[in-house]
Amino acid sequence: MKKENGIFKIIGSIFTSITCVSCTPQQTQPLLTPPSQENTLSPLYLFQNTEETENTSLRVDGQIPSWLEGEFVRNGPGLIRDNAGETVKSWFDGLAKLYAFTIKHGKVKYTCKFLQSNAYKKLQATGVFDFAGFAQKPKTDQFSMIDFLFDIKNKEIINANVNVAEINNRLVALTEIPLPVEFDKNLNTLGFFDYADSLTKNYSFESAHILKDPETKANWNFLIELGLLDTTYQIYKIPPFSTERQLVASIPVSAISYMHSFCLAGRYFVLIDYPLRAQNPKDIANGFIEAFAWSDKNPAVVYLIDKESGKCQPFLTDPFFAFHYVNGFEKDGKVFVDLIAYPNAEIIYKVNYYPFLKNVGNTLLRLEMDPLKGTIKVTQQTQEHMEFPRLNEALIGKENQYFYAIHNRKGGNGLIKFDHLKTKHRHWYQEGTYANEPIFIPHPQAHGEDDGVVLSIINDLKTKKSFLVILNAKDFKELARVHVPHLIPFGFHGQFFKEN
Ligand SMILES: [Fe+2]
Repeated sequence: MKKENGIFKIIGSIFTSITCVSCTPQQTQPLLTPPSQENTLSPLYLFQNTEETENTSLRVDGQIPSWLEGEFVRNGPGLIRDNAGETVKSWFDGLAKLYAFTIKHGKVKYTCKFLQSNAYKKLQATGVFDFAGFAQKPKTDQFSMIDFLFDIKNKEIINANVNVAEINNRLVALTEIPLPVEFDKNLNTLGFFDYADSLTKNYSFESAHILKDPETKANWNFLIELGLLDTTYQIYKIPPFSTERQLVASIPVSAISYMHSFCLAGRYFVLIDYPLRAQNPKDIANGFIEAFAWSDKNPAVVYLIDKESGKCQPFLTDPFFAFHYVNGFEKDGKVFVDLIAYPNAEIIYKVNYYPFLKNVGNTLLRLEMDPLKGTIKVTQQTQEHMEFPRLNEALIGKENQYFYAIHNRKGGNGLIKFDHLKTKHRHWYQEGTYANEPIFIPHPQAHGEDDGVVLSIINDLKTKKSFLVILNAKDFKELARVHVPHLIPFGFHGQFFKEN
């Protein structure tokens, strides 16, 4: 991947709503690459906590701002080893566990519970993992792989371990397989969440990173429908106070890319088709991630999709891979997209040991597209290694100065407040600790983009316990520390739900 400024290859420059991506796989990586000595920190003990609790009062050091009231809910793989000692094939397949910190009047109550997925119930009944997932295959019923991936008629409650969201005032856990799983404020699993529409609920994948447009309050997402005759990327929105997915654009493709998320940028929905592709989507029936292969020989395709008209403009650029976007925005007739990129998709095959991997090539890239000229430019923004970026969500799709992320440090992970103007990055780090994804919560009468607090769960490997840290987002000084009675396994994503 080019690291210096420069205009990448420009090919796709005409407006079109139909684009086919054709490429040839070059290699398939094995799963579960053994960790090297220096990054082995026995991740298994991070995942040995099977405790569940409800409304446990937590000790608070420092002072939580009086305006901060609501529920901070996180999701992630809570269990990666079964009673027979067998681990899941990928960290992405750990059994979903939800964590909620309810903050009110400066006090905090804590609840954590496993999602009652079919995979979890089967583990409880048999003691062993026997389910289909990202890299996991069923042991006893090979057809359940196809059921899992291609058919919801069995009313499967998916191991939705990636993210949480609110749709029409209902809380859901999400992964990349529909349908989401609904849960209540006490983290009790209620069942799968059905959409009130005719878009596909079978034979499809979607992103767990639903984004709410701060202006219209509509939720946006995409799904990949594997049809009998063709495969399409479908962009949809869910209007506020609705559970109906409304189709905005449909892009036929010949091969599907593994795409974890997307971003909004002004009037555009931005979807990047990385050259980690399944040439024959039906191969997914034999194992999900196994069907995808990386190719350095083929481009990444950036689709700019007009959120009103559904028109799609593709831009081709050099290969790279990303899980997470920071944000996107329009400025001076151009479209900008910031994301945490990797030179290739190897991270997927090493991820079982994340976050213990260090400096795996993740870097902040800025993509600059000119829709009129059809040009794209890609520049690396920093030498910092970051992941799990979040920002003030009032600025989703608009230009932001700051974002917050986990940041590789010697002996652990810290937090960084990244300043695009580079006036001053801020850091928080305590040696021997691993920070989870930080989230920003604005002050109700905020003055400025960074007027609020940043919340992150910190895993302390010395005490073998976790704590919730609350930072003043402006200066990154610690305001409060909330002590959790056990270690919370390193997780994926969370959201803050305000009272009412
Ligand atoms: Fe993610």
